[in-house]
Amino acid sequence: MAKRSEKTFYITTPIYYVNDIPHIGHAYTTIIADTISRFKKLTGYDVFFLTGTDEHGQKVEKAAKEKGLTPIELADQMVVRYKDLWKALNIANDSFIRTTQSFHEKGVQKIFQKLKDKGDIYKGIYKGWYCDSTEHFLAEDVPLEEGGYKICPECNTKAFIVSEECYFFKLSAYQKPLLDFYGKNPAFVRPQSRMNEVISFVKQELKDLSITRTTVEWGIPVPDDSKHTIYVWFDALHNYLTGIGYDWDLSHFQKYWPATVHLIGKDILRFHAIFWPAFLLASDFPLPQTVFGHGWWLKDKTKMSKSKGNVLDPHIILKTFGADPLRYFLLREIPIGLDGNFSHEGFIHRVNSDLANDLGNLVQRTLTMIQSFFNGKIEETDKEGKEDKKLRLEFETTKKKTLKLYEDYAINKALEEIWSYINSVNKYLAVNEPWKLSKDKSKRKKLGRILYQAAAALRTIAFFLFPVMPESSEKIWNFLGEEKPIGEESFRELKFENLKLGQIIKKPEPLFPRIALKDFLKEEETRAAPARKEEKMEYISFDEFKKMDLRVGEILNAEKVEGTTKLLKLEVDIGVEKRTMVAGVADVYSPEDLTGKKVTVIVNLKPAVIRGIESQGMLLAAEIDDKATISFFDKDVPTGAKVR
Ligand code: ME8
Ligand code: MG
Repeated sequence: MAKRSEKTFYITTPIYYVNDIPHIGHAYTTIIADTISRFKKLTGYDVFFLTGTDEHGQKVEKAAKEKGLTPIELADQMVVRYKDLWKALNIANDSFIRTTQSFHEKGVQKIFQKLKDKGDIYKGIYKGWYCDSTEHFLAEDVPLEEGGYKICPECNTKAFIVSEECYFFKLSAYQKPLLDFYGKNPAFVRPQSRMNEVISFVKQELKDLSITRTTVEWGIPVPDDSKHTIYVWFDALHNYLTGIGYDWDLSHFQKYWPATVHLIGKDILRFHAIFWPAFLLASDFPLPQTVFGHGWWLKDKTKMSKSKGNVLDPHIILKTFGADPLRYFLLREIPIGLDGNFSHEGFIHRVNSDLANDLGNLVQRTLTMIQSFFNGKIEETDKEGKEDKKLRLEFETTKKKTLKLYEDYAINKALEEIWSYINSVNKYLAVNEPWKLSKDKSKRKKLGRILYQAAAALRTIAFFLFPVMPESSEKIWNFLGEEKPIGEESFRELKFENLKLGQIIKKPEPLFPRIALKDFLKEEETRAAPARKEEKMEYISFDEFKKMDLRVGEILNAEKVEGTTKLLKLEVDIGVEKRTMVAGVADVYSPEDLTGKKVTVIVNLKPAVIRGIESQGMLLAAEIDDKATISFFDKDVPTGAKVR
């Protein structure tokens, strides 16, 4: 990596709830944080990137109960899911905090005690409308519905009146200090529009905040008063301190605190832009520099969220495409502050046109020509001509703009700049037609110059793209024969001519698969189907189940149905009689595999005519990727026996 200065950069993601599996929304935040952190490293910062899981509270308690697990068992399972996804997405976080770790619990208790001693936390009675699913008391101004209850404006579910003894945090005392702070740090909340939102909220009356519960067992106990547990948000927010060493590695903590950026979704902006700085002011810690609230990924115009059941599982995309296309798409498609609609069409279009065509082809063409015309090694070139100089100067401007845009977290704009440069290189090749020059021996140095230019440009493109697409960038870097890893030269030191003449250029492998939309949709359909069925489980009563007459059937004879590849005609003895059945298993089983076998058949299924044959029943089989695996018995059973 580039030489580190003393400048530190501390970036965080929210710590995610472990009540359900991660989806594209969580992936999005974490990818942005990873990209910013990789970029900062390229500019010489000493970066610390923290992510993790939020494991306490009612939500997790409830989800665990529904699954028949203890909360910690559920958390342990979900942590694996998160960590696996981060690995698959190439997320290079420096640490992963779990709020159930004892150093965190102790740190939170210590701060709680400190604020209590100071008088900023006091005991009282709270009565208010509480939403279970978002775990907060509704604001006073949420209107009463006709039925005399309130609806949580965030998740649209019914809230309940809760009245309990609890500890309060004196938020009211921090109204003025907060407003002063915002006044002096107008860029504290980004994008700017959200800063205004926060200020106008704080300008209204700020009520003291209830920060403990007696109704939730799964939480950090209040010191010396353990029938109270600490409210999940007071617990969770302090991960940003404990995760870098608060109260267990103070020199590490002091090195990185205050955070440079807390990256979050706009759903949790108030917690981060109001409560969090108030807690920090109370406990005398310096305040973070920026809270960046990004927009939401929507599906069918509504926020993707597990409670709505409209989430996309990133694994299907990752399995087909790997990490980089997803990282690229999410960052390219929208500016970080705005919402975006996730569509498969949009995704496939980006992959095929930007990645496979523009970038992939450029890499492929350039390196293949260097292989075939120069045996992988350009040793001599013509002097830089006018067109060549233009391309090099375009590198200079791209570098300047990209640096500035990345610094401003305008990643989509940075990518636009890089793509316009990629297209200039493509155009440069199209105009200079190196493939034609290769036939003329006297043009050898000119040919060398053109291909050198393209390769040198590619080297810088790989560098620019590294924060967003680390894997593909490293591949391009290696194809170009670079021996040191990307980042040895810093962003500022990056030069066009740092690609050395005489370097050994390797033969490229394809970087991005080109996949047709319809094939991808089909793939996703088959993979998502079992999950979806499980989600929308519809129960039947035992009486309904009893209506099915399932029996052990013995296959007496099997033969292929002519003119088909999948169908077998079976003669099955069901004990009381013999039946003819048609089964779609011929692609997996041959007639000999089945003759004499005993299987489960449903015998009171309405007969159906298949290819002119009346099928009088159906045998049971698992269906995996459209292929059948018949369920046989593991012991001999009498033909005709009931199955239930
Ligand atoms: O709120 N689009 O955890 P959480 C974009 N534990 N981003 C999305 C998204 C979407 N559709 N859905 C989720 C919590 N996110 C608390 C945080 S921090 C001290 C405690 C991302 O599991 C986005 O970053 O509900 C959002 O803020 C976060 O996931 C919420 O994750
Ligand atoms: Mg949430």
